[in-house]
Amino acid sequence: MKNTNQHLTIVIPTYNESVNIQPLIERIHQNLVGNSYDVLIVDDNSPDGTSDRVRDLAATYPISVVVRKDKRGLASAVVDGFQLAKGDFLAVMDADLQHPPEILSQLLDAANGGADLVIASRYVKGGSVGNWSALRRFISAGAGWLAHLVLPSTRKVKDPMSGCFLFDREILSGVTLSPVGYKILLEILCLSKAQKVAEVPYRFENRRAGKTKLSMITQTDYIRHLLSLMWRCGEAARIIKFMSVGATGAVVNLSLLALLTDNEAPLVELLVSGALAFEAAVIWNFILNDHFTFRDRHRSVGGFFGRLWRFNVISLGGLGIYLGTLALLTETLGLFYIVSAAIGIVAAFGWNFLVNNWWTWRE
Ligand code: GDD
Ligand code: MN
Repeated sequence: MKNTNQHLTIVIPTYNESVNIQPLIERIHQNLVGNSYDVLIVDDNSPDGTSDRVRDLAATYPISVVVRKDKRGLASAVVDGFQLAKGDFLAVMDADLQHPPEILSQLLDAANGGADLVIASRYVKGGSVGNWSALRRFISAGAGWLAHLVLPSTRKVKDPMSGCFLFDREILSGVTLSPVGYKILLEILCLSKAQKVAEVPYRFENRRAGKTKLSMITQTDYIRHLLSLMWRCGEAARIIKFMSVGATGAVVNLSLLALLTDNEAPLVELLVSGALAFEAAVIWNFILNDHFTFRDRHRSVGGFFGRLWRFNVISLGGLGIYLGTLALLTETLGLFYIVSAAIGIVAAFGWNFLVNNWWTWRE
């Protein structure tokens, strides 16, 4: 249980939200009255007078505004807001009432109950995306799935793309946030010191007034952001380690094969030696990956032998993918067999890395 007298600052980025400010602030106040809190609006010099509306309300409510001269975007507004905020707890929320302000007290309760980071989630039981089209649901689900795939530290939450969350600011001490796109929560999940993460369900409402500022361009920003985070949180380095281990494994495989058999050996003997050399390389790769590539991930069920068993099963699958690709591309597409083999190696590598990352060395 944490000290429940923590001050909360709600950081709200705005661009042309003048019509939404008053109902937003009133609803936040109704929800949080009696708590120690303030609202910090970070406005990018909205031409519709958003900041003037905030100043009008500042006489009645604990609200202030910082105006940035140029429009530098949602994510950087939030990061600036974190720096200026005085709260022990920080929250982020949109101004357009798509995040119902009534969720704030629930987020705060969870944080007071010991969670470091509490996320308003559309994808836990009781949450929903409201009346989105099938296409938008599909894109959102795909984007979340992609984050889970390449950034394992997002796997503990169902809605890593949420724009509404609350956290203890200590989890960001010593952490530099530099979001490429606008998903600040991804940065926090991958780089912060959050240990205990909770999700509270909510329904993503329709925009109350005005229109969205985020376009399809943000989809390519999203991919760039994922790549940048893979580098910054060590997942790219993990791929390179896994590849290096695989290269040493290939040397083990070929050397052992050369030792065990010679040119005149009958096919059966060659296949037996080949299988032995393959298995030796699998065990070699496993030990190196366990000690080196995934040394931070020894929590999975089954212990050392459980992981070894999984690694073996996946490696056999990888061999199947390699041989299948080799046969298929050479036979049906008529590709030169070395080209087919190269494609097969890449496919098997991708399979081995992703499935081991997901199953053998669970986050
Ligand atoms: N300061 C500043 N500068 N604020 C901005 C800017 C900007 O360039 N662009 C947008 N905002 C503010 C908006 O005024 C609003 O308060 C909030 O950021 C979200 O912008 P929307 O335009 O309403 O975005 P959305 O509804 O498409 O996306 C939101 O919901 C997603 C799903 O939860 C965002 O919160 C996403 O981060 C979130 O993933
Ligand atoms: Mn919105």
